Amino acid sequence: MHILKIRAENFRNYRYLQLEPHPRLNIITGLNAQGKTNLLEAIFFNLCGYSFRTKNLRDIINWQSEYCCVISELKKEGRQWKQSLALNKKGKKKILINSVERTNKDLNHSGVIIFTPDDLTLIKNSPAERRRFLDLEVGPFYPAYKQAIQQYNKVLFHRNHLLKNIKANKNKDNTLLEIWDQQLIIHGTNVLLGRLAVLKKLAPLAVKWYNLMTGGQEDLEIRYLSSLQINPTADDKSIKAYFQKMLNELHYEEIKKCQTLVGPHRDDIIFFINDKEARKFGSQGQQRTLVLSLKLAQLSLWEHEYQSHPILLLDDVLFELDSKRQEFLLSKINQGIQTFVTTNQLYNRDYLGNDYKLLEINSGKVSVTQ
Ligand SMILES: Nc1ncnc2c1ncn2[C@@H]1O[C@H](COP(=O)(O)OP(=O)(O)OP(=O)(O)O)[C@@H](O)[C@H]1O
Ligand SMILES: [Mg+2]
Repeated sequence: MHILKIRAENFRNYRYLQLEPHPRLNIITGLNAQGKTNLLEAIFFNLCGYSFRTKNLRDIINWQSEYCCVISELKKEGRQWKQSLALNKKGKKKILINSVERTNKDLNHSGVIIFTPDDLTLIKNSPAERRRFLDLEVGPFYPAYKQAIQQYNKVLFHRNHLLKNIKANKNKDNTLLEIWDQQLIIHGTNVLLGRLAVLKKLAPLAVKWYNLMTGGQEDLEIRYLSSLQINPTADDKSIKAYFQKMLNELHYEEIKKCQTLVGPHRDDIIFFINDKEARKFGSQGQQRTLVLSLKLAQLSLWEHEYQSHPILLLDDVLFELDSKRQEFLLSKINQGIQTFVTTNQLYNRDYLGNDYKLLEINSGKVSVTQ
């Protein structure tokens, strides 16, 4: 997919923005706080209908304005269409595709992959970040997996509530807990199998990207760590049996803590670089390369599932890599992926060639300098 044109009004510090991006590489440069990340956010908002920076979407409206909008002309395999997203101060969003009103669901397949410095939390932070990546960033490729997660979360919520009631002696009947146990086992097993299947596709791709980016000097290994302590080849029946056994053993403890202590909401994904855990021992550059490999794996999955290239947004991450890794990434981009990269340290551009657009941002105004 390509953005042919993009226009924004009152988006963050852009009162008015109009741009015809390069079909491949767009380098967005400028001093701090000029609007580089805001431009990526405007693109992301137009394609996905939400922001990667804030949960409170109204933050994206310019402080002096009552509304904002981003309008793009997009192209995918010969098909061309216009996509308009507007938001007002009350938080009401309006989505128009070729002037016909649509909903968020219609944006589900707008392919965009983003990598910002915040994504390093994927390695550094708690297991919840890694589960979120798998469930929310990769999960949507597979509708059954996405559905299993939604159902599991609902069951988990109700079961924890019941555990609280049992502890407070409001509910003495154990049959209710047994009913929720069964629901937890059914949906939990679906989530677990979904994750393992997704990881089976994603992990070899990430390993391949990591290996290529490090010129074969470093090896990556990805392991799924299940709180059920099952092995990755376990089948539906054995997972369910083991889940049941563990719940039986943990009932007393769970009531005491008012928490479900076992299940996919307690699992983790561990990354090893040259046999050492990346979270504990990886350098900044290794961790950045690792996240980038995961994002590129996501990109490859996208290309495989939808037979088209997604758009790639890289916020302050390309020029922070060493020159070998940069060149490798740029050669990948050369294969037809429209990319937007931001940086404020573009010192050497010789190796970039001439075929790209350089966008200089100054207080919410864009000038094209190449
Ligand atoms: N709703 C808004 N209305 C107007 N200005 C805003 C709004 N939200 C953020 N800004 C301003 O936009 C400016 C630019 O932000 P942005 O994050 O895009 O900078 P940047 O160029 O990416 O900087 P850096 O190099 O530090 O990452 C900030 O100074 C911020 O105060
Ligand atoms: Mg920025």
